[in-house]
Amino acid sequence: MTRLSVNVDHVATLRQARGASTPDPLAAAAVVEAAGASGITVHLRQDRRHIQDSDVAAIRGSLKGKLNLEMSVEPEMVGVALETRPDQVTLVPERPEEVTTEGGLDLIQRAAEVERTARILTDAGISVSLFLDPDLEQVRTAAGLLEVIDGFEINTDRYSRCAPDREAADLARIAECARLGAQAGLAVYAGHGLNCENVAAIAAIPEIEELNIGHALISRAVFVGLREATEELLTAMG
Ligand code: PXP
Repeated sequence: MTRLSVNVDHVATLRQARGASTPDPLAAAAVVEAAGASGITVHLRQDRRHIQDSDVAAIRGSLKGKLNLEMSVEPEMVGVALETRPDQVTLVPERPEEVTTEGGLDLIQRAAEVERTARILTDAGISVSLFLDPDLEQVRTAAGLLEVIDGFEINTDRYSRCAPDREAADLARIAECARLGAQAGLAVYAGHGLNCENVAAIAAIPEIEELNIGHALISRAVFVGLREATEELLTAMG
């Protein structure tokens, strides 16, 4: 069965908006793990706009499943990873102005830099994955890094936003990349923009082991929980 790793960044976004201590991504991690998620994903951005270093350490300390730390290749982030020791690091491109990760790593341009970082992490016993667009050339280049990476995550952003007439072509490209990667001996993951409406077709691709899903799940949780939260407050008001 395809595993689910829940990205709890947006729980931290809500907390940071108030500069408060709640909602706590650590508490969210416990809830989703109890509900069946196999692990937690956090993106520690250089600007620390949502997840903080202390969140990574706290989740590391209490999570039973896999902790996947998304980060850039910057030496500062490598230092955090070596200190907090997540099970897996997913290397992503990061632009300070972006609202969310905008695309996969360009391995053709950045193979040397990515390889250097991946080697440091792998030597430290941390599994390394790369966030890649569904592009066969990128997957072939990743296959050449087998010594220092364990897998790659296919960026499903375009698929999740595409018009229905493009969906079959995008899915076919994702499936082809998944097949090529798995044949090369890489673990295959996928994520970005997935939700209840579009996830089934991606989860049905046999080579894809795990999905990373955040925004749609946290957004849905607001509405699933809003009625109960209102009733709780009215009860508290007496
Ligand atoms: N995978 C990567 C590499 C990401 O950067 C993100 C967003 O933080 C996700 C998956 C999850 O995307 P979404 O929040 O749209 O589910």
